[in-house]
Amino acid sequence: MAGLKREIGDMTTLGQTGLTGDTVAALRSLIARRQPGYSLDAPFYTSPEIFQADMELIFGRTWIYVCVEPEVPEPGDYVTVSLGRNSIVILRDDDMGLRAYHNVCRHRGAKLVHEESGAVGNIVCRYHQWTYNLDGRLIYAEHMGADFDTSCFGLKPVHVRSVAGLVFICLAAEPPADIDAMAAAMTPYLAPHDLRNCKVAATADLIERGNWKLTMENNRECYHCSGNHPELTIPLFAYGFGFAPGQMDETELQQAARYEDLVVSSTARWESCGIPSAEVDHLDDRITGFRTQRLPIDQTGESQTLDTRVASKKLLGGLTDSKLGGLSFWTQPNSWHHFMSDHIVTFTAIPIDAENTLVRTKWLVHKDAREGIDYDVENLTSVWNATNAQDAALVEMAQAGARTPAYEPGPYSPYTEMLVEKFQKWYLDRLSAGLASGGLASGDLASGDLASGGLAAGGPASGGPAAGGRA
Ligand code: FES
Ligand SMILES: [Fe+2]
Repeated sequence: MAGLKREIGDMTTLGQTGLTGDTVAALRSLIARRQPGYSLDAPFYTSPEIFQADMELIFGRTWIYVCVEPEVPEPGDYVTVSLGRNSIVILRDDDMGLRAYHNVCRHRGAKLVHEESGAVGNIVCRYHQWTYNLDGRLIYAEHMGADFDTSCFGLKPVHVRSVAGLVFICLAAEPPADIDAMAAAMTPYLAPHDLRNCKVAATADLIERGNWKLTMENNRECYHCSGNHPELTIPLFAYGFGFAPGQMDETELQQAARYEDLVVSSTARWESCGIPSAEVDHLDDRITGFRTQRLPIDQTGESQTLDTRVASKKLLGGLTDSKLGGLSFWTQPNSWHHFMSDHIVTFTAIPIDAENTLVRTKWLVHKDAREGIDYDVENLTSVWNATNAQDAALVEMAQAGARTPAYEPGPYSPYTEMLVEKFQKWYLDRLSAGLASGGLASGDLASGDLASGGLAAGGPASGGPAAGGRA
């Protein structure tokens, strides 16, 4: 009964479900025993209960990148996205503003919009035709009587924010305010690429058979690149993501030195032309964590294509220099983006369940670029389609290993996996903050499941960080 009471209480607060007190204790124990510089205990990758906590405390409380403004160019244009149990519709209103709403009718709760994208004049519920305008107001509800106050039944809003055309939403009642700082820092970097005047030339949805954190870990390092990404390592320098100098031969050291020189000279050249390029890193010291850096591209220096040349003849915005390398922009918890002189590639990782993640990739070109004349979709997408497929196989391998009893957390390279560690630190900090805030109150998460779901692989929870032979 107490659980039911708490459940009822939870229903008044968006984004909260319940975890039992025992479960919260088990999760705290898992967080406490995590050794910095090591991958996580198996339940973080396999447990449905931790997945539930992730969706509530991470995806329910931080700013989540979901789409780009060019997907909703005109009033009434919308896209929908699912985040855990939430369905959200993001649309352009009549004043050209962005709006986001819970995709749930205020009558008897039917899901309102069923397509992934489209255009509407008003939002009409299929069930009994309650009708909402683009401002979210209920404007028509037949047979409800003269006393019925439509103003009490508008769509529930979701916070939405565009950063230079990249659209973020936040399900929390009070979203993290430091998105302002990210927007202030990133807008000068992104503005030259003028995303708002681009169009989506291609989209690819890929299900990675792994926990979303394995998708993100894989994204935050290029340790695996030289061994797995023959296409990506044509434009990308393998040394751009770190190396251990003590283990390199003379030739490799010379290549690394050449790359370091290129970074310094390229950054100086780009910045002198008014193209911000220097590294900014707030991946683990802010709620709205992010990092950016403009990195040189190999060979012609132009774009992330198989021949390193621009994929679209029409450069973005007012750009005239095709050799701008690639501006990378990473956000916590779930996105990464590459901005070149001719095109933009954006990625969002949407968790599906504990062991499956949707990776949605979009390629954007100038809105006036003509397919078949200015760009070819196959050429535009070939590097990242190949790379995504390779990454999906790697994540699936990692997930398969995390499921086995022999799995135990392993050490990150201090030279090439620093950003993986920053991701984990940020994730665990946010999880701890969520647990401390008491957002998880009730429900059916059983701590026994957590303990048996993976801790057995490396020994009992009481074994502490040194259990299983870790240093
Ligand atoms: S549930 Fe939407 S109008 Fe009835
Ligand atoms: Fe990769």
